Amino acid sequence: MKILVTGGLGFIGSHTVVELQNAGYEVVIIDDLSNASEDVLDGIEAITGKRPEFEKLDLRDRNAVSAFFKKYADVSGAIHFAASKAVGESVHKPLLYYENNLSSLVYLLKELTGKASANFIFSSSCTVYGQAEELPITESAPVKPAESPYGNTKQIGEEIIRDTAKVYENFKAIALRYFNPIGAHESVEIGELPLGVPQNLVPFITQTAAGLREELSVFGNDYPTEDGTCVRDYIHVVDLAKAHVKALTRLVESENKSNYEVFNLGTGTGSSVLEVINTFEEVSGVQLPYKIVDRREGDVVAAYADTEHANNELGWKSELTLADALDSAWKWEKKVRGIK
Ligand SMILES: NC(=O)c1ccc[n+]([C@@H]2O[C@H](COP(=O)([O-])OP(=O)(O)OC[C@H]3O[C@@H](n4cnc5c(N)ncnc54)[C@H](O)[C@@H]3O)[C@@H](O)[C@H]2O)c1
Repeated sequence: MKILVTGGLGFIGSHTVVELQNAGYEVVIIDDLSNASEDVLDGIEAITGKRPEFEKLDLRDRNAVSAFFKKYADVSGAIHFAASKAVGESVHKPLLYYENNLSSLVYLLKELTGKASANFIFSSSCTVYGQAEELPITESAPVKPAESPYGNTKQIGEEIIRDTAKVYENFKAIALRYFNPIGAHESVEIGELPLGVPQNLVPFITQTAAGLREELSVFGNDYPTEDGTCVRDYIHVVDLAKAHVKALTRLVESENKSNYEVFNLGTGTGSSVLEVINTFEEVSGVQLPYKIVDRREGDVVAAYADTEHANNELGWKSELTLADALDSAWKWEKKVRGIK
């Protein structure tokens, strides 16, 4: 069975391609290389022994998307990772984000709904919950007005897919709301490669430890949490990748309960920024220079997933620990920077 993975050379996409191939799925990747390198194909091949098919293509080009589906008529489903994902940048370039994250989605759905049957998995985010009133966060927690154009593209994206699944009986979809993906494959053949200054905590930590950044800023230590720093649910990217295989297989085997379903993907455990720093120092043996600075606008205090729905319905649970994820992220950073 051939599956299209858009953004398959990116961080989460590449790890998912590995797990899909390990599970026996054939994969064709679309990526425009705007935030990835073609070398990632070598990493995937080194791990799985198989090089996935690859088309360099910008999903905003509707004619190119159409031509792709003519060439690969045997594609029976898609996992859609391709998107722009920098929250801060989206505030300054809203139209870039609305175009890249939403027009691409519509073009894909137009092609897939024209097929006899199609399965679709969408990369959504826990940002849709904003600061949830109750923790852990269940899928029935209300979706809050988005804090950024990026967050809004995830909310609107979910609505577009939900509305599509309502009217096309041949089309089944699952939206996966990720919490905070971190880490790298244990082989250290693939990992996260952020362009420029990392927006997320863990790449910032590993780059600071590697000497690329002078110091880590901890945004606020006066939040109403145990140690005053923000709490998040950090999930190992390999666990996250495996959940995609479970979700896809659920659709392939028609085990879904409705044509559009939503699942949280997290570990169920919240970790504070200081806990992450301490755990990193333990696993790496590196002392991290950091300072406490003012709160950052838009940060929620605490977010972690209720994982029961994914546990019961997808038969999936995260297995790797925060220490595993930080250890792999550090090994990956050292490899990329040529540090012994
Ligand atoms: N990493 C996170 O913390 C996180 C959290 C929640 C949700 N997500 C979502 O998960 C998905 C994957 O995230 P990631 O961290 O792997 O990001 P990433 O940037 O590493 O991967 C996205 C890939 O899509 C490609 N791409 C972007 N626009 C494209 C276009 N128009 N045509 C073709 N390819 C295009 C990029 O080159 C990149 O390889 C995204 O939709 C993101 O919004 C990520």
